[in-house]
Amino acid sequence: MSAPFRVALSGDFRKADGSPVYPDFDLEPLRQAPNVEFAYLEPRNPVEADQLKDFDALILLAHRFTKDSIHPNGRLAIVARFGVGYDTVDVEACTRAGVALAITPDGVRRPVAVSIVTFILALSGKLMVKDRLTRKAAAGFARRGEHMGVGLVGRTLGSIGIGNIGAELFRLIKPFDMKLIAHDPYADAKLAAGLGVQLVGLEEVFRRSDFVSVNCPLTAETRGLVNAERLALMKPTAYLINTARGPIVGQKALTKALKEARIAGAGLDVLEKEPPDADDPILKLDNVIFGPHALCWTDQCFAGNGAADVRAVLDVQHGREPRVVVNREVLETATWRNRLHEFRKRFAT
Ligand SMILES: NC(=O)c1ccc[n+]([C@@H]2O[C@H](COP(=O)([O-])OP(=O)(O)OC[C@H]3O[C@@H](n4cnc5c(N)ncnc54)[C@H](O)[C@@H]3O)[C@@H](O)[C@H]2O)c1
Repeated sequence: MSAPFRVALSGDFRKADGSPVYPDFDLEPLRQAPNVEFAYLEPRNPVEADQLKDFDALILLAHRFTKDSIHPNGRLAIVARFGVGYDTVDVEACTRAGVALAITPDGVRRPVAVSIVTFILALSGKLMVKDRLTRKAAAGFARRGEHMGVGLVGRTLGSIGIGNIGAELFRLIKPFDMKLIAHDPYADAKLAAGLGVQLVGLEEVFRRSDFVSVNCPLTAETRGLVNAERLALMKPTAYLINTARGPIVGQKALTKALKEARIAGAGLDVLEKEPPDADDPILKLDNVIFGPHALCWTDQCFAGNGAADVRAVLDVQHGREPRVVVNREVLETATWRNRLHEFRKRFAT
């Protein structure tokens, strides 16, 4: 009987009293898996190398994983991030050490796309304004004609990025009979055509859309991509929705455009600085609906992320490649292939 495959959960998955922070993350499949042991780490941020010396895998919530988190004994094979962001992980250090970094696009795809639809419906239906009016009773009802909503049929939804979430947004919005356009320099043209999405230039998304939704990653190329010049191309009746990453949008320029009503409004789940300063002027604007980088947080999102991470670590235990790996070059190395081979010999049934 060979030693079990050992999985660590970062310490931030557990509260001080030992109960799970996110009970929707179902650990039963890990508990039931043959020849697997798992344990929570002490909550140290960043994760420290000595904590991991007896583990083959790490499921990582929000704690940082740096070059100093990697134990020189080379036992750790995979870090499975709970979510798709990995700015908390030193990817290069992982690659150098032959550690695969897995993420969970399957867990977030639907929940984030639903968040974007939520913003589209709330903004177009003037939901927040009408909620406030109703609370003012007769005085509010008297003013309801001043807040006409916007019908969606024939209106244009434009996405910057048509990847995991952008494509799901287009799938979900189909029954609303909108025109669909997207800009993505790396787009899969067949996927776009299949979804009825016209691929256009970046400026055209700003010019034509009634709703511009940001669905690209934050990279050197996309930082500040939504700037004053591009906001100026938008129709005064159009809305900007950002559920991707705050710094893709120049927040000062956006605040100005919203303040001067040069665009109709915005739905923002992400901000340049999170949490924002309490006196950030954008928080004073009533043509914006905010989410605290958590609009997609649902029971199903957390269950989905957890299930995807458990699948990734059990894949490695059985000598299979995990489905979504950020540093795919690791998978090509002889060391990694040998390692998988060894796991297969030990654990594959
Ligand atoms: N708000 C949240 O809680 C939350 C949760 C998950 C993901 N996100 C964010 O949502 C965004 C989209 O995630 P995803 O899973 O769809 O990622 P993805 O990698 O599957 O898709 C991103 C798409 O953007 C495209 N792209 C890259 N550079 C571009 C550019 N310069 N212009 C236009 N398109 C460009 C890529 O080609 C790709 O098709 C990311 O920023 C991610 O961090 C937010």
